[in-house]
Amino acid sequence: MDNRVYLNGEYLPLKDAKISVLDRGFLFGDGVYEVIPSYKGRLFEFEGHIKRLEQSLAEIRIESPCTQEQWRELLLPLIDESFDQYIYLHLTRGVAPKRDHGFPEETEPTVFAMCSNIIPFAGRVSGIKCVTLDDSRWNLCHVKATTLLANVLLRQQALDSDSGEAILLRDGHVTEGAASNLFALIDGVLTTPPLSKDILPGITRELILKIARTNDIAVAEDSISETALKQAEEIWLTSSTREIVPVIELDGQPVKDGKVGKLWHVLNTLFQAYKQQ
Ligand code: PDD
Repeated sequence: MDNRVYLNGEYLPLKDAKISVLDRGFLFGDGVYEVIPSYKGRLFEFEGHIKRLEQSLAEIRIESPCTQEQWRELLLPLIDESFDQYIYLHLTRGVAPKRDHGFPEETEPTVFAMCSNIIPFAGRVSGIKCVTLDDSRWNLCHVKATTLLANVLLRQQALDSDSGEAILLRDGHVTEGAASNLFALIDGVLTTPPLSKDILPGITRELILKIARTNDIAVAEDSISETALKQAEEIWLTSSTREIVPVIELDGQPVKDGKVGKLWHVLNTLFQAYKQQ
């Protein structure tokens, strides 16, 4: 099934996958998505990803068209077991008869899925530079919405300043990265902002908290001020596609001594061992 994608009940070559210009995803960004890793054909933290998809769908009032097992059956034919890949799964409210902001009456959701190889990312081990930027996003950041214009502009602003990611600040406190969650080692405690409508409930974030707790590493879900961030001993960004990325420079200043921290090595080893299981 290489190079094949899924669209509305069919598996077909990417070049043949077409949607209507009246699709609400195209016109309004009216949809949600998931990014699910597959390591050598095995879906990683699948249950958590599907649960979050169901929560996102419920928030935007779309009924999920599949059960967890049906999603698995739908996605498995897209995966190539010889590679580490990620699945992109995208649902929109579907095609409406005309452009109108209100929900159309009888519309089936558009369901699209594709698979891509995970490209090894150099900064994942050596660390990346980041910049802090004002979080210009909306108030429903816990929904994994396809409406990502603010995230796109923020990430690009970071790239334009030779940084790998934008770390976002709201009212003087960190929320998350433009496409990642944030952890900081503060006074010996691995701290991450608490779940709220300001951040995406990251699956990698949840897993790191679980691994840390199991291994008696002190963790806290607590707000992080800009000042505390700038004095942190370590900073990491987490996501399904990049795993745990150490930040070695923030706003032109080294994080601690500018080297990848000791706790990152510990957690990364534990994370890789969990993946192998
Ligand atoms: N993004 N926060 C935001 C805003 C994100 O976009 C992501 C991931 C995360 C991390 O979530 P998780 O650990 O579940 O991947 C946090 C994906 C990878 C993307 O948009 O491509």
